[in-house]
Amino acid sequence: MTAPILETPRIRIPRLGLGTWPMRGAEAQQAVEGALAMGYRHLDTAAMYGNEEAVGAGIAGSGLRRSDVFVTTKVWWTELAPDALRASAEASLKRLGLRHADLILVHWPARDMDLPATLGALARLRQDGLARAVGVSNFPAGLLEHAVALGIAPIAALQVEAHVNLWQDRLASLCRRHDVALIAYAPTAKGQVGDDPVMRAIAVKHAATPVQVALAWLLAQDGVVAIPKSASPQRQRENLAAAALRLDGEDIAAIARLPKDRRLVNPDFAPDWAA
Ligand SMILES: NC(=O)c1ccc[n+]([C@@H]2O[C@H](COP(=O)([O-])OP(=O)(O)OC[C@H]3O[C@@H](n4cnc5c(N)ncnc54)[C@H](OP(=O)(O)O)[C@@H]3O)[C@@H](O)[C@H]2O)c1
Repeated sequence: MTAPILETPRIRIPRLGLGTWPMRGAEAQQAVEGALAMGYRHLDTAAMYGNEEAVGAGIAGSGLRRSDVFVTTKVWWTELAPDALRASAEASLKRLGLRHADLILVHWPARDMDLPATLGALARLRQDGLARAVGVSNFPAGLLEHAVALGIAPIAALQVEAHVNLWQDRLASLCRRHDVALIAYAPTAKGQVGDDPVMRAIAVKHAATPVQVALAWLLAQDGVVAIPKSASPQRQRENLAAAALRLDGEDIAAIARLPKDRRLVNPDFAPDWAA
């Protein structure tokens, strides 16, 4: 099976992709090749993951046409000055063995970044054909709104942590209003959703797993894409199959009542999330 596609005026992206952090080397290559063989068509990597060569080798080994695979990479927050951003994107493409990425994101905002200059450099990646689409990651709502309002780069996607225990309506509705795809990272809460009795009960009801319920909940939201990581073929298959799971109103209401403020990824360089 393959995942359904989200189509917006700025991007056409499979709604379920494979996260690749922290896999490297042979593990990353095998995970990518195996995932593509079972129907994944969207891969998420980043310069910082140190696995772009392996991801590229997995794509090459799959025998798929370039146009059949959606590839995202990211530029680290220390490289956001225009020349550095350009050099980072070019180096990523070289490591991936690709002429273009489908999506290039600013991985994290930097506190001292010159936002218009960074957005200008991002827009040029698209104009010059290095990226089909561009976007940002880990931008809080206020900063995203500011970036969109500047109108310098056509922001096609925002990648942020989002799952049944972390969700911001403000951010989601901002994305919908501006046709920004919301790509949910850590969508299974790093595999921890099975600890929750509510999630386990919903899973039993659908003869599914709690992780599948968590992914189905994200895919039930308009404009949302999820990129679960798994190194295991069995769990990759389980995650991809979640795209076919339909939750009912009762399930959605029960999940809505779970706490929505449990952030798992919060490094010391993270922005003020309330900004
Ligand atoms: N933009 C950013 O700043 C940012 C930050 C973090 C992550 N990301 C991206 O998002 C991707 C996903 O996020 P994540 O890896 O942090 O979290 P995640 O995908 O929610 O969780 C991955 C963990 O869950 C386990 N898992 C996966 N499927 C499972 C299943 N069906 N049942 C039980 N356990 C399962 C995996 O173990 P196994 O491998 O053993 O299955 C792994 O330990 C990353 O790989 C990366 O590409 C981006």
